[in-house]
Amino acid sequence: MFYIGIDLGTSAVKLLLMDGQGRIKKTVSKEYPLYFPHPGWSEQDPQDWYSRSMEGLKELLEGCDRSQVAGISFGGQMHGLVMLDRDDQVIRPAILWNDGRTGEETEYLNTVVGKERLAACTANIAFAGFTAPKLLWVRKHEPDNFARIEKIMLPKDYLAYRLSGTFCTDVSDASGMLLFDVEHKRWSEEMMEICGVKESQLAKVYESYACVGTLKPEIAEELGLSVQVKIAAGAGDNAAAAVGTGTVGDGSCNISLGTSGTIFIASKQFGVDQNHALHAFAHADGNYHLMGCMLSAASCNKWWMDDILRTADYAGEQTKICKLGSNQVFFLPYLMGERSPHNDPNVRGMFIGMSMDTTREEMTQAVLEGVIFGLRDSLEVARSLGIPVERTMICGGGAKSPLWRQMTADILGVKVDIPKCEEGPAMGAAMLAAVACGEYASVAEAAAKIVEVVDTVKPNEEEAARYEERYQKFRRLYPAVKELFPL
Ligand code: XUL
Repeated sequence: MFYIGIDLGTSAVKLLLMDGQGRIKKTVSKEYPLYFPHPGWSEQDPQDWYSRSMEGLKELLEGCDRSQVAGISFGGQMHGLVMLDRDDQVIRPAILWNDGRTGEETEYLNTVVGKERLAACTANIAFAGFTAPKLLWVRKHEPDNFARIEKIMLPKDYLAYRLSGTFCTDVSDASGMLLFDVEHKRWSEEMMEICGVKESQLAKVYESYACVGTLKPEIAEELGLSVQVKIAAGAGDNAAAAVGTGTVGDGSCNISLGTSGTIFIASKQFGVDQNHALHAFAHADGNYHLMGCMLSAASCNKWWMDDILRTADYAGEQTKICKLGSNQVFFLPYLMGERSPHNDPNVRGMFIGMSMDTTREEMTQAVLEGVIFGLRDSLEVARSLGIPVERTMICGGGAKSPLWRQMTADILGVKVDIPKCEEGPAMGAAMLAAVACGEYASVAEAAAKIVEVVDTVKPNEEEAARYEERYQKFRRLYPAVKELFPL
């Protein structure tokens, strides 16, 4: 049988067709626009997600025996607020995970409601990108829109709804709404009251590998698929990526170098970072995880290449970079503010340390290094909790760069395992569909049978020692400049 994974990302939807043995048959990617209507805001049109996904599905299915397709599932950008009215129309553009407009609402939640109360209800505190502060923002700034809300959805759940008609979400994605009691896997009454929403406006929550329905007849017909094709709930993109890289069970780690950068640590037990710098969320394998998320990772390099250097030759720009650990330039990767560990929507990116002989290569190198230094900040939080991270999987667009992989190993001081398939979330989503259809008994079994490590990048001792010194300086930069913002 065949299984389809749909990764609803921030820059594009990536679709993957997998067979029952976990072999990738085909992948397709379709881009859509991202809107920044005000500095620090970030929005998308859910209709774009749907139409580009349908185009992608049609292309993916060309030439394939459609009668063999058994299941579809999703990995999706997390936290985005999608609101539908009583006619199932989208009320306003979706407000995304990297949107920083909710500074006031986040502050209100963390200080007036209080971090302790939030953590008792949800296991997490408020961050600007989470869904609950966005609801408070809409209630205050767009009361007419707020009054029209019939359904509150996360991005991938909008797609599941359009394809199956089922109003559902999954435990991993629900965890990022700040409306969900992560430990007990149910909506929090108290948080719903604080945000002025009713349970009927929220989706039914499933485990990520649960079957939530089948294709709507009209969609099945349009795609040439059977109406028996099962839809599985799917997962937030990081949990889906973790499944796709086999990061399940206890203590294993995955790093995603996508638009965002995340460090994801799977755990069998529910656990919380008492300082809440790391998110405590449910995992797509039925267990839990801790995660640090930086808002701009591969997107820093994309900005630097596309908008500043105006080149498409990403690999070419990296070939002259050879002095790892010896760069005098620092880059602070906070182009959209920062989530983990600083929780500061107002901070912005910076280059520091240039001189008259600074080169283009050094600036590029600083951008790549700044992203990994940012991830190291979250890793240090995990280490301070006594979680020993000695090796990690890696995925996402940035993971294709051998240089960036080496920097990851050197700066984090971990072995970096390279999976055969870098399409983390789309692969994980296809695996969740396979579990929902009974091809595998559990997510752990699917991961054990499917995921293959093809290479391991080890830290280079000398570079790692030089980077250690650099990191000790990097970590002093944010505290030194944070008072400047907002500029
Ligand atoms: C995770 C997060 C991002 C998005 C990116 O908390 O906000 O990783 O899911 O798609």
